[in-house]
Amino acid sequence: MSTLTLSPAWQALAHHYPTLASRHLRDLFADDPDRFKRFSLQAGPLFLDYSKNRITEETLTLLLALARQADLPGAIEHLFAGEKVNVTEHRAALHMALRNPGPDPMAADGRDVMPEVRRVLAHMRRFSEAVRRGAWQGYTGLPMTDVVHIGIGGSDLGPAMVTRALDADCDSVRVHFVSNVDGADLGRTLQRLRPEQTLFIIASKTFTTQETLLNAHSARDWFLAQARDTAHVARHFVAVSTNADAVSRFGIDPENMFEFWDWVGGRYSLWSAIGLPIALAVGMERFEALLAGAHALDLHFRHSPLERNMPVLLGLIGIWYVNFFGAQTHALLPYDQGLVHFVSHIQQVAMESNGKGVTRRGEPVDYATCPVIWGGPGTNGQHAYFQLLHQGTPFVPADFLAPITSRMPLGDHHRVLLSNFLAQPEALLQGKTTAEARAELLQTGLQGSALEQLLPHKCFPGNRPSSTLMFQQLDPHTLGALIALYEHRTFVQSVIWDINAFDQWGVELGKALARNLLPELSGQPPQHPHDASTAGLIRHVTERLQSPEGSS
Ligand code: F6P
Repeated sequence: MSTLTLSPAWQALAHHYPTLASRHLRDLFADDPDRFKRFSLQAGPLFLDYSKNRITEETLTLLLALARQADLPGAIEHLFAGEKVNVTEHRAALHMALRNPGPDPMAADGRDVMPEVRRVLAHMRRFSEAVRRGAWQGYTGLPMTDVVHIGIGGSDLGPAMVTRALDADCDSVRVHFVSNVDGADLGRTLQRLRPEQTLFIIASKTFTTQETLLNAHSARDWFLAQARDTAHVARHFVAVSTNADAVSRFGIDPENMFEFWDWVGGRYSLWSAIGLPIALAVGMERFEALLAGAHALDLHFRHSPLERNMPVLLGLIGIWYVNFFGAQTHALLPYDQGLVHFVSHIQQVAMESNGKGVTRRGEPVDYATCPVIWGGPGTNGQHAYFQLLHQGTPFVPADFLAPITSRMPLGDHHRVLLSNFLAQPEALLQGKTTAEARAELLQTGLQGSALEQLLPHKCFPGNRPSSTLMFQQLDPHTLGALIALYEHRTFVQSVIWDINAFDQWGVELGKALARNLLPELSGQPPQHPHDASTAGLIRHVTERLQSPEGSS
């Protein structure tokens, strides 16, 4: 067993677990009338009710002891001090500097990064304002009407999610996102656009990502098919990257490159110039409000005591479920249509960060790490997968999120939305006992064997935990805070699990195999032997690629 699972704090939680495993949330609430007050917290614009979790004061004390044992306060300080916490790539993870508004320096590896951060922010402001007021003109002298942001993973999910979330504020150019190498993604987007009024942002930290570069080249071909002259590319293509050489090899004017740095991880990069499409869609002021919201959470995370620290509490409660209750998934359920892409973004933040099986020193772990993060907006999910949440066999802790007021009010819609938002966690908590279900069925007039047959289907075990996050409205400031909350929650868990949250070597193997395999789809011999399944599938594809009728 590892030193973590043998450690006193872990062992204390393991001993404590059976007392909680056998208690129903109904009883925890009955025993403590102050439970809501005791287990709720405000951080910046976010209000968290964590009382519907299967915890007591003692659980929290033990979880906090686990955090102290892992020296979480020290780890937070190392993170904010710009130390090379990404130990396999020898890099800092200083995305908090991107949203640091004040005059204070922030150093990555001993060097103040704030002057560069401010320089790029100023560049973003000049450029986005010029495009938005029509002063940035295309090769025919017309202003831009559409922006196509090409990127993938961290260079797509964050800005796409935020732009969608703030679409009530989109008041200038239309912004589109293309990520998939499936030509249908780019093809469908370009179908509706006019090259002379379209601006492309090529967003790639490395500027080597296959999907992004192929989409970028195809976009350039589409543009040049009409514009004819490569000199016109400068007015229509800008890049966001850390790789200036590759950007200029692609043919983008270095003047039109927005830089970021190796201390910004891809999935933490929406705060950098990767967020340019956000600034183009909603304006630089709102982009800066987004940064300010995230900064408010940074301050809360760095300076609040562990027991009143929202990312810490959420992270530890998650650990409690994964490592002691055996939860393998965690549901995110935002009741806000603007947050339709929120789960995908947080899925990358959490699963690419903590989906690891070795410690920072490379030792295999003997405990579970990141659960599968999944979910989607309510109320839609209620008519799809909520059945499993209420009566299924997996244990699925959930986070419910909602604004108190809508940004797009329409009749009674928001109150109906909120009634569902409040009812679902209550149903998960309470469940319905056999006696309650029987009484209900009797009231409908059902009796005898018909009643007995239906009865088990009408019972709900309840005792299914959730956390509830509320905020006044999904404005840029609040959204920034919300995203930062989940970033820091992810970091907290990585510290407890002793894993490096900032590398992603697991994505490399498949990429390398795809590169090797590509020539085979044009009939070239394999560069290495395949297993029989892959070899058979390659044959299946190539035979049909060569003969479109599908006859082999
Ligand atoms: O394949 C994973 C990944 O490396 C992510 O971590 C990253 O966000 C994404 O690809 C895109 O990378 P890039 O910005 O370098 O194109």
